[in-house]
Amino acid sequence: MVTSISKISAKESQKVEIRGWCHNLRSSGKIAFLQLRDGTGRIQGVAVRDQLSDETWESIQQLTIESSVVIRGIVRTDERAPSGFELSVEEVEPIQIAAEYPIGKKEHGPDFLLNYRHLWIRSERQSSILRVRDSIEFAMRDFMRREGFILTDSPIFTPNACEGTTDLFEVKYFDDKAYLSQSGQLYQEATSAALGKTYCFGPTFRSEKSKTRRHLTEFWMLEAEASFMNWQGNMDLQEQLVSFIAGRVLEERSYELKELGRDIATIERTAESNFPRIDYDEAVERLQKAGSDIKSGDDFGGDDETILTKEFDRPVFVHHYPSAIKAFYMEADPERPDRALCDDLLAPEGYGEIIGGSQRIYDQSLLEKRIAEHGLPSEAFNWYMDLRRYGSVPHAGFGIGLERTVAWICGLEHVRETIPFPRLMNRIQP
Ligand code: 4AD
Ligand code: MG
Repeated sequence: MVTSISKISAKESQKVEIRGWCHNLRSSGKIAFLQLRDGTGRIQGVAVRDQLSDETWESIQQLTIESSVVIRGIVRTDERAPSGFELSVEEVEPIQIAAEYPIGKKEHGPDFLLNYRHLWIRSERQSSILRVRDSIEFAMRDFMRREGFILTDSPIFTPNACEGTTDLFEVKYFDDKAYLSQSGQLYQEATSAALGKTYCFGPTFRSEKSKTRRHLTEFWMLEAEASFMNWQGNMDLQEQLVSFIAGRVLEERSYELKELGRDIATIERTAESNFPRIDYDEAVERLQKAGSDIKSGDDFGGDDETILTKEFDRPVFVHHYPSAIKAFYMEADPERPDRALCDDLLAPEGYGEIIGGSQRIYDQSLLEKRIAEHGLPSEAFNWYMDLRRYGSVPHAGFGIGLERTVAWICGLEHVRETIPFPRLMNRIQP
């Protein structure tokens, strides 16, 4: 008869045992209301003094916020309860009486809450976000699998940079040094030449000195790579992935989205796909019209992305950025050699970039030239150049940031709430 709260609706009028925590409680001399949670949901337990033994009533009086308990009682329908049910308490077994809980009902600042992140995740809101994250993460894997991509995880200790040398974390590696991976892409280029279509999904690390609502120093990224795919096919794939994610979250997590106060209209439109695609020049023009002081050739700042995405009711692709502001490996458009066959997918409602992708240079000598121009050490890229020496083909891929996707889908202010234990420039605790 041990039951999880999420399955309580099948147990009406039955006696059940719930194992969990008392997230809140109030008691008069005659009746006590225990707000219980067990990780799967929440339910109110009602304990009536007259119907209980002295011993049970005593146990209830000892309970404090976040005390762990085993409670037995009868499941009753209650229209006023959010879950539709409540529990008539019959027996209470405290497991541990919690010390005074540091997180109260009053407003706490973000630093305070982040210091108590190990406890803060117990709150209804934070648990809801983590459930949405779980759904998004599995939706991503399911989609890639359905599309025939093989999961080939990239290493985390790496000998060299992928996205540029400025934001690498250096670690001691026996008598040598290594870097924590900032992207698994180069390895996916190798595995996709072996298996056709591959992806990796793991943590990536960037020592970016950015204290913005979009930056973590450790974040999770899914990176896909496909042989013979061009930059347009790449956008098609990204669009299908993101609309699949939106559909899955609507299906599995409508309760959580409501709990988070999320207006789901944009997510519904995202699930329908039809993402607009504009090129860099049009994006710059739109930005200038909207009052930005951006000049052609500049990279977009977070504010520019925010302005741009407010003009669309679903995610928007911006393609053909100037090669000069993008990574060394991007293929140029043969008709506009200063422009890369690349795209960023910007999430609506001001969220901005969630995906970066491109077609890759597959010509050996051009790639060698770009590596030199970017001041990268050619010896470190010798293995990567082999991919151009032995059966090079046009190919493309992208990386989608999990936390930025979760932040947008949940409608959060900051990515720090999207990951169980965020790593930020000024925070590595707890
Ligand atoms: O645009 P980025 O840098 O692209 C790459 O790393 C490519 N190698 C991907 C590829 O083509 N295989 O990063 C991709 C995505 C961004 O769009 C963003 O969602 C996320 O990774 N991202 C971050 N998320 C949180 N914190 C950070 N500091 C991030 N940096 C990038
Ligand atoms: Mg990018």
